[in-house]
Amino acid sequence: MNSTSPTIAATLIPGDGIGPEITEATLEVLDALGAPFVWDRQVAGMAGVNACGDPLPPACLDSIRSTRLALKGPLETPIGGGYRSSNVRLREEFKLYANLRPARTIVPGGRYDDIDLVLVRENNEGLYMGYEHFIPIDGDPHAVGMSTGINTRQGCRRIVHFAFDYAIRKGRKKVTVVHKANIMKALTGIFLETARQIHEAEYAGRIEFEEVIVDACAMKLVMNPWQFDVLVTTNLFGDILSDEIAGLVGGLGMAPGANIGEHAAIFEAVHGSAPDIAGKGIANPIALMLAAAMMLDHVERPDLGDRLRAAIDATLNTDQVRTGDLGGKATTREFAAALVKRIQASA
Ligand code: NAI
Repeated sequence: MNSTSPTIAATLIPGDGIGPEITEATLEVLDALGAPFVWDRQVAGMAGVNACGDPLPPACLDSIRSTRLALKGPLETPIGGGYRSSNVRLREEFKLYANLRPARTIVPGGRYDDIDLVLVRENNEGLYMGYEHFIPIDGDPHAVGMSTGINTRQGCRRIVHFAFDYAIRKGRKKVTVVHKANIMKALTGIFLETARQIHEAEYAGRIEFEEVIVDACAMKLVMNPWQFDVLVTTNLFGDILSDEIAGLVGGLGMAPGANIGEHAAIFEAVHGSAPDIAGKGIANPIALMLAAAMMLDHVERPDLGDRLRAAIDATLNTDQVRTGDLGGKATTREFAAALVKRIQASA
C-alpha cells in the first residue's frame, strides 16, 4: 500500500472449516492489491465456542461495533446446546437490513452465459422474524404449526430505497420488485405498494421499474434470466431466489454476499464451512475474494474492486488456473499465487 493512503479498520473473522484457508488466500491477494484495510482478527462460530464457549463472543461484537466493517468466513452453528445461528444474530445485532447478492458469469460455457444479476433481499423482517409456535390438540403437541410474518412500512421503504439507489449508482437499467401481493395481500402487499409509491415519487424517469409475482419470477429466471437486472424482494423470497441466481452462474462456490445496515456492513462468502474438504488446501477462495471486492466498492475503492474482479477473470479464463470444484487442479494457495501475479501485472 502507498504509505500516504488512508487506512480503514476492519474486523476479520476467518471462520470455521475452510474459512481460515480461504481467508489467508484472500488476505494475500488484498495485500498485493494494496487494499486499505487494517484488520482486527476475531473468532466466531465453532472457533468462538472453542475459544470462549460462545459462537459470537462479546469481543467480536465489540470489534464490529467499533470498525462497522467486517469480512467474514463461513461459521458453523453448533448443533444442540441451544445455540442460535451467529449469522442471524449478526443480522439482528447490527440491523443488517439489506442482503446484496450479485450473480455474474465468470467461467463461460455453463448452462447460461453472460449472466449479470443483482438480488437485493430484505434481511430483517417478513416470515423470518421467528414468531412461530405450535398449538397442541388431543395430545399431539405439534397438531398446528403457526408462523407470523411482519413487514413494516419503514422496513419496506428502507430496502426499496436501497435497491433504487444501488441500481442508479451502479448504472443499472431496471429494478424489478418481486412479490406475492395477489395472495399475501397485507404481508407482501405493503412491500409492493411501498415500492410503487417510492418509484413514482422519487425515481420515475430515472430508472425502469417493473413488478413480477414470485412464482412467475422463479420460472422466468430459468427461461430467460437476461430480462432481469436488479431484483428487490422480501426476506423469504429473497433467500430462495438468491440461491436460484447463484445456480445460474454455477452454484454457491463463486457467490459473494454483503449484509448492509445502518450500523455496520459485513461481507461474506455465501457457502458454508465445507467440513468435507477442510484442511486439505483445495477450497476455492473466489467467493470470499469477490466478497472482499464488494467490500472495496463499499469503502469507495471500486477501482481496487474492479481490478480484483478483472484479475480473477483473467486467472480463471486466460491462465486457466482453477481449483478442483471448477474442474482444475490448483490448490487454494496455487490459485492465490497465480492471482497475485495477475494483480501485480495489472499495477
Ligand atoms: P457448504 O457450503 O459448507 O458445503 C456444500 C458443498 O459445497 C460441500 O461439498 C463443500 O465441499 C462444497 N464447497 C463449499 N464451499 C466450497 C469452496 N469454497 N470450494 C470448494 N468446495 C466448496 O454447506 P454445508 O455442508 O451444508 O454446511 C457446512 C457448515 O457450514 C454447516 O455448519 C452450516 O451451518 C455452515 N454454513 C455457514 C454459512 C455461513 O456462515 N454463511 C452458510 C452456509 C452453511
